[in-house]
Amino acid sequence: MAGRLVTVIGGSGFIGRYIVERLARSGDHVRVAVRRPNEALFLKPLGDLGQIQLVAANLKNDQSLRRAIKGADAVINLVGVLFNSGGQTFQALQAGGAGAVARIAAEENVRHMVHMSAIGATHASDSEYARTKAAGEDAVLQAFPTATILRPSVVIGAEDGFFNRFAKLTKLFPLLPIPGAETRFQPVFVDDVAEAAVIASRGGDLFEGKTFELGGPQVLSLRALLEVMMDDIGVRRPIINVPWGIAMLQATLMQLLPTPPLTRDQVTLLRQDNIVADGAVGFDVFGISPASVKSVLPRYSVQHRRKGQFSAR
Ligand SMILES: NC(=O)c1ccc[n+]([C@@H]2O[C@H](COP(=O)([O-])OP(=O)(O)OC[C@H]3O[C@@H](n4cnc5c(N)ncnc54)[C@H](OP(=O)(O)O)[C@@H]3O)[C@@H](O)[C@H]2O)c1
Repeated sequence: MAGRLVTVIGGSGFIGRYIVERLARSGDHVRVAVRRPNEALFLKPLGDLGQIQLVAANLKNDQSLRRAIKGADAVINLVGVLFNSGGQTFQALQAGGAGAVARIAAEENVRHMVHMSAIGATHASDSEYARTKAAGEDAVLQAFPTATILRPSVVIGAEDGFFNRFAKLTKLFPLLPIPGAETRFQPVFVDDVAEAAVIASRGGDLFEGKTFELGGPQVLSLRALLEVMMDDIGVRRPIINVPWGIAMLQATLMQLLPTPPLTRDQVTLLRQDNIVADGAVGFDVFGISPASVKSVLPRYSVQHRRKGQFSAR
């Protein structure tokens, strides 16, 4: 596999950096395509001199995508958003943009494509996030039928927006009012997702044209997950389950902020469990045994403990 050129679109994000590191370690050349390559310079030391190249590209600009994709053996698309903001919309990126990547990859004779979707992607959802993820999957498979679709549950790791965010809130407030406390998740370690993406980027009958749901070994309610996190950082707060109607009202106000902590669409998403569906195929096909929350969390929760590394645990 050494010597391939792999374009990773969105390679500077949370999941992307782990994929870039794995590709570089396996000897591939990596072209990272993002809107702001200057903010992706931290990726360079993950590879040898010249092994990781940064290019400017925007999913909404075909020309820039073509430049980023041209000559690549494989393309991995990671771009997604959590809320609509200016031109960064669910529709433009997760549906239209995903389709554009696949179309251009096919036109440029790229051999393999991996597309990052999410558990819960369905046209039937009330959430625009989930509907546009489903539309993106369709558009990708229509233009690039051998693409591999990966659908992770909530992804955890040092830079995650899940435990890190809740840990900060836990330390700031005397109680944790959250909607969806009983909604179930199947958190998955970011490097396990990265390994699956890198394996799929090499193609093969097991992966081409297939969709995989990636969840960790445990299914836990949001409440149970927060309790694990609080045990780990040594801070205890009562968890209050906010009724859906009140959560919607709060989100209506919060989504007026430039970076909303909660949106109405996210409240809608929280109403559904975020776990691997019965009968879905996942990590076993990749030969990966996914890491548990309890083994992953202590690797990065030290920053949230009262006395850091000196806290008794
Ligand atoms: N994190 C999770 O828990 C989770 C769970 C399920 C599914 N997923 C999916 O996994 C994928 C990656 O998630 P992530 O958490 O790694 O995301 P992330 O940290 O937000 O990273 C997004 C990446 O996309 C780039 N990007 C954003 N807009 C772009 C545009 N218009 N054109 C080109 N590049 C653009 C960003 O760089 P610039 O801003 O510099 O462009 C960044 O590199 C997403 O599709 C997400 O929906 C994530």
